[in-house]
Amino acid sequence: MTTGTVIGNDVAYAAELLNRGEVVGIPTETVYGLAANALSKTAVQQIFAIKRRPLFNPLILHMASIEQIDRLANGLPKPALKLLEHFSPGPLTILLPKNKLLPGEITAGLPTMAVRIPRHPLTLALLREVGYPVAAPSANPFGYISPTRAEHVAKMFPEALKYILDGGECTAGIESTIVGFPEGVATVYREGVITTPEIAHIIGPVRKHDGHKPKAPGMLPSHYRPNTPVILCEDPEAELPKYATDKVGLITYNRYAKQLPKDRQILLCTDNDWAGAARNLYAAMHDMDERGYRVIIIRKLPEKGLGISINDRLIRAAAK
Ligand code: TXA
Ligand code: MG
Repeated sequence: MTTGTVIGNDVAYAAELLNRGEVVGIPTETVYGLAANALSKTAVQQIFAIKRRPLFNPLILHMASIEQIDRLANGLPKPALKLLEHFSPGPLTILLPKNKLLPGEITAGLPTMAVRIPRHPLTLALLREVGYPVAAPSANPFGYISPTRAEHVAKMFPEALKYILDGGECTAGIESTIVGFPEGVATVYREGVITTPEIAHIIGPVRKHDGHKPKAPGMLPSHYRPNTPVILCEDPEAELPKYATDKVGLITYNRYAKQLPKDRQILLCTDNDWAGAARNLYAAMHDMDERGYRVIIIRKLPEKGLGISINDRLIRAAAK
């Protein structure tokens, strides 16, 4: 791979680049992000350009503390504070009314901002070092598979980034759960690492956002997509006979399918370790997408707990 990108763990250097208005790859516990100073319009514009992200899609802000969030919010509703106190630092993003300190570019003109406190020691150190909010969407070209390793980021952006802060493999592996409070009603906008019942356990009943009016790219029908077509199915052994075995790869869990050599299969987890499946999902998709298969068959997970969040990504990855 020819790449001018340096991968390392120098937080001070990453901070220096952010201070100069540059975009840096950063690790979080969910997926890697493309980070820039959220208070600099030109730095934020670079994120949109590098990611080829439509300008109408708002970015998530990363901050080091609830106090820092409070300084940019126009009020912090009680259930939002309760969730932040319970789950932060962690894979939770909250939508809050923003105040005037924050440039409108980040929220794509919306009156709300998305914020989270990531649980990764290097990125928390970076956020404390720079002191300003850091905007960071997932570090993948718009619509493609999200990255869970620094190498994934380098592969997808071989020219555009000077530096990727290497925090190792993401421990959670899929994106944060997004919760907002439109008209005061707790609403899940994106299923993620923290499940809806876990949210409801802290603040009471939560509704799911109506997917017919997508507000987030993660809610678009097609997203998280490899270049190789994905077939999603419940029973790979019934699906596999439709394809020549040398042209197909299988991502499954628990056990290998009998009809295909094991080196054409990736097991996401053993037993029912769905957190393990989430952690391994995107790396498996990146790996399979490089093999030149005609199709990637993926076995759908049971529709409960984290399986719901993982299936949400798989359905979008398989969408035409
Ligand atoms: O786990 C994560 O959240 C990762 C890591 C890097 O923090 N970030 C991430 O960012 O997934 P991104 O940009 O790929 O997804 C953020 C989603 C987008 O779908 C965006 O449209 C939505 O959050 N979003 C941002 N601000 C919003 C707002 N004010 N209202 C509704 N949705 C918003
Ligand atoms: Mg994304």
